[in-house]
Amino acid sequence: MSTFEKFNFKTMDEIKSKISELGVNISLSEDLSPLAKPVKIGNVIAPNSMAILPMEGCDSESDGTPSELVRRRYSRFAAGGAGLLWFEACAVVNEGRANPRQMAITKGNVGEFAKLIKTADLSAKEYNGSDHRPVKVLQLTHSGRYSRPKGEAAPIVPQHDPLLDPKVGLDANSPVVTDEYLDALTEKYVQAAHLAREAGFDGVDIKSCHRYLLSELLASHTRKGKYGGSFENRTRFLLNTIKAVRKEVGDDFIIACRFNVFDAHPYPYGFGVDKEDCWKPDLTEPLKLVKLLAENGINLLSNSAGNPYYRFPQVTRPFDSPIIGGETPNEHPLESVARLFDFTRQIQKTAGHVPVVGNGYSWLRQFIPNAGAANLSDGSCSLVGLGRQAFAYPDAPRDIFTKGRMEPKKCCITCSKCTQIMRDHGRTGCVVRDSKVYLPLFKEARQNAMQNK
Ligand SMILES: Cc1cc2nc3c(=O)[nH]c(=O)nc-3n(C[C@H](O)[C@H](O)[C@H](O)COP(=O)(O)O)c2cc1C
Ligand code: SF4
Repeated sequence: MSTFEKFNFKTMDEIKSKISELGVNISLSEDLSPLAKPVKIGNVIAPNSMAILPMEGCDSESDGTPSELVRRRYSRFAAGGAGLLWFEACAVVNEGRANPRQMAITKGNVGEFAKLIKTADLSAKEYNGSDHRPVKVLQLTHSGRYSRPKGEAAPIVPQHDPLLDPKVGLDANSPVVTDEYLDALTEKYVQAAHLAREAGFDGVDIKSCHRYLLSELLASHTRKGKYGGSFENRTRFLLNTIKAVRKEVGDDFIIACRFNVFDAHPYPYGFGVDKEDCWKPDLTEPLKLVKLLAENGINLLSNSAGNPYYRFPQVTRPFDSPIIGGETPNEHPLESVARLFDFTRQIQKTAGHVPVVGNGYSWLRQFIPNAGAANLSDGSCSLVGLGRQAFAYPDAPRDIFTKGRMEPKKCCITCSKCTQIMRDHGRTGCVVRDSKVYLPLFKEARQNAMQNK
């Protein structure tokens, strides 16, 4: 591990020299044409190889209906010209919402989701040509340990965890979620997928990352019964749910899975980790899972890693500045970026023809297109995903396609202020590049957090 440094590169030569000094596996290509290549996802074609990753705004109406801010966000994402829009976490049951403003799709509001899709499609066409139709996938979630449907922690956990339980005020003797609850939950995913198709989405993601319920289930080594212990049991819920959703939606609907390949959390509570050293990835099980997902007809994958609520958030999103009180990582951000790239590379190699969306690009700012094009051209991923960069610079893909570059002054500076708003339980977006809307919301959330301390 090398010393942490903030981004400070003006030219490609400067960043290349740092990459070679650190010896990390990041390539940069001058030829950006791979980014414009269409990608087949299931039976649908994404018009190019750029994707917007799921980015939660915590700003829906109290019943989960998309609000004005949600419509604005997806209108901007769609106008930006990416080939795939991966819509943010959307709860399948009220008790599994991460906050009282998390999106939730229900029979009562499915029409509003249809309007959201329509708005996005119109925006995409207006700015990128009448033939441009992005693929749209909705991320379905249950927040598990991090559920806060009424604004107070109301954790639903598959196993106890001595490191994480105290963080959510959980008593070590409180009950864990029952097998019966999980059996019934599969049907909620089926219903939500049905509604997503009715609204006009091209697919759904059975979200299994960031240590929410399905992610923690993958790591539930200490859980008893059919959903815990062995690899077969820990992956049972995810695979059963994928099969049940497929039965409902048929072959023409995309089923995606964004999952944690590495929790950076100690065994027996972490997934994808070395049993002796949780800082060392062991991808034996994650790669076994990828094979099973492919055999079960998954159409799209995205790897993520880490637990954004615990230590080491750089494992999920490499940054320059942590949230207030957060630790400065003891590694260079390029090492954090390279780790995520390496995970995607390994997942893509194992997934074969199933496209994998890469992530962890935002820290690279204006060099994203160069890194993305290099990863696409050597088969390290099938799509290049933008997370925070999409908040900051939603029209980055269009700038890449029309101007051949991203402008440094429009880039995300990985300052973690959007994450800070989330931790303060506010409505989030880019405080720096979209400051007219989000600076006041940042201040409001900070003030509320200080008052509630
Ligand atoms: C404010 C915020 C909201 C996020 N919301 C989601 C989400 O709803 N679902 C998800 O899978 N990941 C979510 N992420 C993670 C991002 O999709 C992405 O994996 C991460 O930020 C790393 O990519 P980047 O370097 O391009 O930002 C969120 C991240 C941030 C900072
Ligand atoms: S607030 Fe804006 S600049 Fe800062 S990390 Fe978030 S998206 Fe990037």
